[in-house]
Amino acid sequence: MFEHFDTPQELFEYRLGSALSMEDDSLQMLGELESAARSPELKEMFRHHAGETRQQIENLHTVCAELGLSTDREPSQTTKGIAKESSSLLRKSADGLLDSVAVAAALGTEHYEIATYEALIAAAEGMGHPMVVNLLRANLDQEKHTSEELVAKAKQFAAAA
Ligand SMILES: [Fe+2]
Ligand SMILES: [Fe+2]
Repeated sequence: MFEHFDTPQELFEYRLGSALSMEDDSLQMLGELESAARSPELKEMFRHHAGETRQQIENLHTVCAELGLSTDREPSQTTKGIAKESSSLLRKSADGLLDSVAVAAALGTEHYEIATYEALIAAAEGMGHPMVVNLLRANLDQEKHTSEELVAKAKQFAAAA
């Protein structure tokens, strides 16, 4: 655990550790959202992205290995907050609203993941690590694709309400 940052590399290592926690939280949340969702298509979307998320965690481990960094987790308070809000809303919502709540919660996580990877990619480009950039881009592309699918679902559920 870092107490103080002196170099861009230390900050990058911290952000990678935080991204690992983010993906752990995301994986757990996708499982909960899959259980909560009523739409079979939405359940399948969450299941599919959980598989991608496992691969993303592998990619992050590869990035750490490539840079000779530890895979220690660092805090990810944002994803913990989104997960907490999601659980609370799911608990309080009628059955007919669960898909809509699940989609909005998942969108929150995806957008935070997109921001995280965009910052990591910019830093990796600055440090001159093309292989690391490629691995992080692979993760970013999956988050963006998932986000687009979720937006389409959100519109579908809103139109059916
Ligand atoms: Fe992810
Ligand atoms: Fe994601």
